[in-house]
Amino acid sequence: MEKVVIANFKMNKTIRQTKEYLGELISLTDNSKVKIGICPPLTALKSATTRARGTHIIVGAQNMHSQESGAFTGEVSGEMIKEAGADFVLVGHSERRKYNNETNADVNKKVLKCLKIGLTAVMCVGETLAERGQEKTDFVLQTQVGEGLKDVYGNEMKNIIIAYEPIWSIGTGKVPTAAQISSAMKTIKSTIERLYGKETTAVVPVLYGGSVNEINSKEIAKIKEVDGALVGGAGLDAIKFSAIIKNFA
Ligand code: PGA
Repeated sequence: MEKVVIANFKMNKTIRQTKEYLGELISLTDNSKVKIGICPPLTALKSATTRARGTHIIVGAQNMHSQESGAFTGEVSGEMIKEAGADFVLVGHSERRKYNNETNADVNKKVLKCLKIGLTAVMCVGETLAERGQEKTDFVLQTQVGEGLKDVYGNEMKNIIIAYEPIWSIGTGKVPTAAQISSAMKTIKSTIERLYGKETTAVVPVLYGGSVNEINSKEIAKIKEVDGALVGGAGLDAIKFSAIIKNFA
């Protein structure tokens, strides 16, 4: 499977900074065998898709609303994101689950909307430290994957990417052991397999996210079940991000 490495800018970078970054990233990753994505803030989305057009970089949004239009002040729909030229959307990032109370049902609505309008959904799942301590990791992942993918058909799964991001690892510098990552990945893949079968599971990339950097990505990329990475902090620097991409090539 082609590896996928995505940078999530979160609330960072202006339009100008995003364009500069893209220019740098495009030349640093020329001829890369890895599928490379960036998620700038919404204000920079359109200029990023314009800059990335015709290059090997794909552009996504960090969030979207599940409805097409309406009285939802401050929200942006999938249709608007698609119109801006994006290829994919991060859905259910743990920061949105935490600060915006997004539930698995909300995540599911957004996933279904993405598929309906032709956007790839990068659905984020992951356990808290407390859940891991209580040995609930497998249960949490199975629930988040199962409920997030409710009513998704097998033939739509080619437009789904899963990102496993243990919440305790995001922005903390704490990375799970290779065995912990491998085990979580297996849980996610076996959940997909139970729902959709082996063949479909083989086409759904499962990324690791949480404190990935240019050094630890060497080891993370070697984990058999890891199909790529979702990168926050280290993805803000095009040089560091391209080093991570090289480790996945
Ligand atoms: P981090 O963020 O790499 O800064 O830990 C990852 C993410 O939130 O996607």
